[in-house]
Amino acid sequence: MFDFAPEPRASGPELYDSLAKAAAALVEGERDGVANMANVAALIWQYVPELNWAGFYRMAEGELVLGPFIGKPACLRIALGSGVCGTAALSGKTQCVPDVHAFPGHIACDAASRSELVVPVKRNGAVIAVIDLDSPKSGRFGDVDAQGIEALAAAISEAI
Ligand code: SME
Repeated sequence: MFDFAPEPRASGPELYDSLAKAAAALVEGERDGVANMANVAALIWQYVPELNWAGFYRMAEGELVLGPFIGKPACLRIALGSGVCGTAALSGKTQCVPDVHAFPGHIACDAASRSELVVPVKRNGAVIAVIDLDSPKSGRFGDVDAQGIEALAAAISEAI
């Protein structure tokens, strides 16, 4: 049905450019946010190497609630300001954490996680969700990953 896959040699900005374009195409014309988040989580999993968790937490009634994801079952609700996700949601700023054990208040959903990238998804300036990526590798995420997932968040914010 859908045939999206990264170029075999793509990496860095090229990979994220391709990911954002594939995501925009995938959500085009579908108005159900859960369906779109599910497909985008699957797309991230397919494109971005070395992950053990990839998905969404949605803002609902003043806290983050688990959304579509790929990975082990995770915490259902996260208070604003709590953990990496709650910090990203409260501040509206991307959190790139090279060592989760050094992050005060990190919430361990999967013991395999060593580093984490959380990017707020904003609509009309308000945080409506976060995209959370976990890796079993320390220091997995850098500026290219943060900017790439920020571009992805912007590309899908009207569709989730
Ligand atoms: N580690 C996150 C919780 C979510 S899981 O990683 C899926 C945090 O500290 O907010």
